[in-house]
Amino acid sequence: MKKDYSQIISRVYADILTRENCGKVPDYIPELACIGENKFGVSFTDLSGFSYGAGDCSEKFSVQSISKVFALSFVYEKLGEELWQRVDVEPSGTAFNSLVQLEADHGIPRNPFINAGALVICDILLEICKDPKQEMLAFICAVAGEDSVFFNEKVAASEMQNSYRNAAMTNYMKSFGNIKSQPDAVIDLYCHLCSIELSCRQLSKSFLYLANGGRIPGSETHVISISKAKRINAILLTCGFYDESGEFSFLVGLPGKSGVGGGIIALYPEHYCIAVWSPKLNEKGNSYRGMKFLEEFTTQTAESIF
Ligand code: DON
Repeated sequence: MKKDYSQIISRVYADILTRENCGKVPDYIPELACIGENKFGVSFTDLSGFSYGAGDCSEKFSVQSISKVFALSFVYEKLGEELWQRVDVEPSGTAFNSLVQLEADHGIPRNPFINAGALVICDILLEICKDPKQEMLAFICAVAGEDSVFFNEKVAASEMQNSYRNAAMTNYMKSFGNIKSQPDAVIDLYCHLCSIELSCRQLSKSFLYLANGGRIPGSETHVISISKAKRINAILLTCGFYDESGEFSFLVGLPGKSGVGGGIIALYPEHYCIAVWSPKLNEKGNSYRGMKFLEEFTTQTAESIF
């Protein structure tokens, strides 16, 4: 019998609402600190196009680090395996903005989803694109099936003004020769990509290519190859939640990615994507309610990649 995902989502959503909303909205990007901390949205979209949402599922929020997945997909498809000479694919076991491993690793970031890795990806975008910002927006429009997607210039500027750690990382990697452009240009692009806004509905749709072997459902074009989709999903599973990646895999059992805007996207290959948004973060920088919701969701569906 086909599972009733709508019923499971409604039930889990109602249950999580009755529980305490723990954690903290991040204040290191002042513009993000003023988001209503009790916002809570969920959206599920499967490969047939069936979609179901709960709560604030249509309200746009700052996707932050979730945009690292779009940037990686774009760069990996263009560069191929050569990419891995500049960024590794190992879990870091450290916070998203940690600098600690860069010296021992000679300026090669552990993976593309920690900040150091995403900054290298931005540097590559600056090398290979004429207009990286517009090309990334066009890529996200294509995978999300949207006419327009925007940067939030206020959020980007707010992060730029507080980018001391990202600046330190970029300069440090440049000293090893792993950043080619000017650090300011790399950080500007990075902060703009973090500032992209999507709703849970848009997010759950925009990740379907990764649940569908690299192809947007209903279209013939591969955004990325089957093999690359498999590899990105593998990195999502092992590195998508920084030093909480093991915990997410253990509790939820799906590849996924979080952002400090409070969003989490998770996907069940060959089946569906599910996006959750709740701004209060746990001590590892992942959405407190997002983690709880997805843990309960995969418990009730009894489905995971394991
Ligand atoms: O680099 C930063 O600090 C943020 N703009 C993005 C970090 C992020 O979303 C990490 N998430 N968990």
